[in-house]
Amino acid sequence: MSTVPLQQLSSQEVVDTTRQFNFGTWRYQKGWSPLHVVDAEGCHFTDSSGKRYLDFSSQLMCVNLGHKNPAVIEAIINQARTLPYSAPGYATTARAELSQLLLEVIPKGLVKFFFATSGTEANEAAIKIARMFTGKSKIIARYRSYHGSTMASIAATGDPRRWPVEPGGKGQGVIFAPEVNCYRCPIRHEYPGCDIACADYLEHMIENESDVAAVIAEPVVGTNGVLVPPPEYFPRLRKICDRHNVLLIADEVMSGWGRTGEWFAVDHWNVLPDILVTAKGITSAYVPLGLCATTARIASFFDDHYFAHGHTYEAHPMTLAPAIATIHEMQRLNLIERSRVMGQYLGDKLKALAQAHASIGDVRGLGMFWAVDLVKNRKTKEPLNTMPEKLAGKPLVVDQVAAELMKAGVLVQSWISHLVVAPPLIIEKDEIDSGIVALDRALAIADRHVEA
Ligand SMILES: Cc1ncc(COP(=O)(O)O)c(C=O)c1O
Repeated sequence: MSTVPLQQLSSQEVVDTTRQFNFGTWRYQKGWSPLHVVDAEGCHFTDSSGKRYLDFSSQLMCVNLGHKNPAVIEAIINQARTLPYSAPGYATTARAELSQLLLEVIPKGLVKFFFATSGTEANEAAIKIARMFTGKSKIIARYRSYHGSTMASIAATGDPRRWPVEPGGKGQGVIFAPEVNCYRCPIRHEYPGCDIACADYLEHMIENESDVAAVIAEPVVGTNGVLVPPPEYFPRLRKICDRHNVLLIADEVMSGWGRTGEWFAVDHWNVLPDILVTAKGITSAYVPLGLCATTARIASFFDDHYFAHGHTYEAHPMTLAPAIATIHEMQRLNLIERSRVMGQYLGDKLKALAQAHASIGDVRGLGMFWAVDLVKNRKTKEPLNTMPEKLAGKPLVVDQVAAELMKAGVLVQSWISHLVVAPPLIIEKDEIDSGIVALDRALAIADRHVEA
């Protein structure tokens, strides 16, 4: 049987082949018609018809440097020429250089690194390490959260992506705490009068559960609504964990690498987690890399205890060299500062949209990381759609808004009843302005669903 060389495929054949032979993730397969993307540069990507799209969500909140950064591409080419693979048991120059560089940018006190190939795997490592180190089994996670797709990380995921794989996905000692969500407080309190009771409730859980190894939390919750905690929350949680000898795992897969206007979100509150997990922006997503970083206390435990974890692709040189280039580029372009300044500009523009659209219930964010929360009714804060509707594959209003934006040449990620606006950190003001104009128009769709 002869096969057609890929370059001869028409765009329609590319789409049809993809649809027929690949799984579309987190969706019903029926109706999947993936866009054929052929190029990307800076804050834009291009489809096979030549149409350009503003990437207003950095794909999956991961292309922090923008597309096709030449220094990162050069690093990939050079590493491929020098040493494309080496088993994890060996030392490599890329591994040593990245480790030294990480010590400069990640929170001080995190000194030992395990390199995986996704955020999911890095969380999997974190959970195993926490259990091995503490000798305890339970993990406290929070409902509005996503920690990954494999068994332990989906078990720790609070959002409805966990539901279809239960009970297997849940049966690993994970228990859920209320999230910190000042817009829709799950325990109906109001900040600051609440004195962040949601944090104290975690202490109640720890005391009543026993056997708790770790609390895992996204310092700024990502996909589930860019939930920014009050400044006291993480320092309080740190103290609670310390009091009970429970580890604090910060999942910075999405919130890391300048996204919130600091290298890592925990830097906003000077909190040192016992384990920090990250991925995505570490290579601007050009190659798959995840990182699980631990303190010296955890690291030294494994000097004379068996470290029962590893992968063929752990510390894969092709993933490490581009991370070095990414960090250097972020430093050269001063992207942390830029995320703060341009993020403020973006946030102000989004807040101004709320004046014009009754469907906008809340605009919240930090740095270059924003959510536009859409509601039927500003008073009741009832969302336009629900989690069960999402899992049932019902057409959601946010998805219609996102589709309208794509028609206008702007990608914005949508989730249940909010949009996540998180462009590359290199974005310019005129690009932000054009994204806002498109959003302004597309929100007319959501406004039609507001209760009279
Ligand atoms: C906070 C968080 N943790 C973990 C993950 C999983 O990372 P990955 O998709 O690289 O496996 C994600 C992905 O979006 C995430 O946002």
